[in-house]
Amino acid sequence: MSLHLRELNRRGVVALAAALGTGLAVAARGLLLPDRATAQPGKDNAEASGGGEDVSATENLMREHGILRRTLFVYADIADRLRAHAGKVDPAALVDAAKLFREFGEQYHERTLEEQYIFPEVRHAGGPNEKLVEVLLLQHQRGREITDYIQAAGSRGSVGGDAEPLARALASMARMYHAHSAWEDTAIFPAWKKTQSKARLDELAEKFEEIEHQQFGKDGFDDALDRIAKIEQAFGLATSTSTRRLRFRNRAGWPSRAMVR
Ligand SMILES: [Fe+2]
Ligand SMILES: [Fe+2]
Repeated sequence: MSLHLRELNRRGVVALAAALGTGLAVAARGLLLPDRATAQPGKDNAEASGGGEDVSATENLMREHGILRRTLFVYADIADRLRAHAGKVDPAALVDAAKLFREFGEQYHERTLEEQYIFPEVRHAGGPNEKLVEVLLLQHQRGREITDYIQAAGSRGSVGGDAEPLARALASMARMYHAHSAWEDTAIFPAWKKTQSKARLDELAEKFEEIEHQQFGKDGFDDALDRIAKIEQAFGLATSTSTRRLRFRNRAGWPSRAMVR
């Protein structure tokens, strides 16, 4: 449980700087953004066909990010709650969130799709994205360490004495992985797509669906959607359309109008 997040973050920054060489810009609060590892999306290769929903390979990857980002929003909200009143956080729901991130994010999305099908080809193509892939791999590893930590913390049945370190872990994970998925969506996936023929993209769209069914024994995306919805509900963050207006039940974290007056 002795995960020294501050040190890990510092080392992450050093590794990132080393990997990107001089081509980086430093943004606020220690978040590093590459300034040129940004291959532009090319002409729209034809999207995949076949299968019930006609989900292309890149759409498949990006909607998986949607599930992971929803988990990160839960993490960020829990971090705020831990800092405010630790006793109100349901440790079982926190473990469910970390388990979803592990199974759907780390074991399937990262290890099976990105690390086997996407990253090797982007690396092979060279250019600035080759170095960005090194950073993304480090972040995959860092994320897995943090997931271990969150699972262990939640499995103890209550969060008390370690509320602040746990809050830091959750907030750090949310910040790192929001950037991670944004870089993949805007630089890596478009770069990868440009290296593929239409026929190969179609083939891989089907392959990714096949892998998902093999790995989860059912539609993994639909299953993950159900799981994140239940987790959001457990934390009072579920959305409701019952009044035809989408709204968060808990609006405490919304920016207030007073902020911009
Ligand atoms: Fe990734
Ligand atoms: Fe990803």
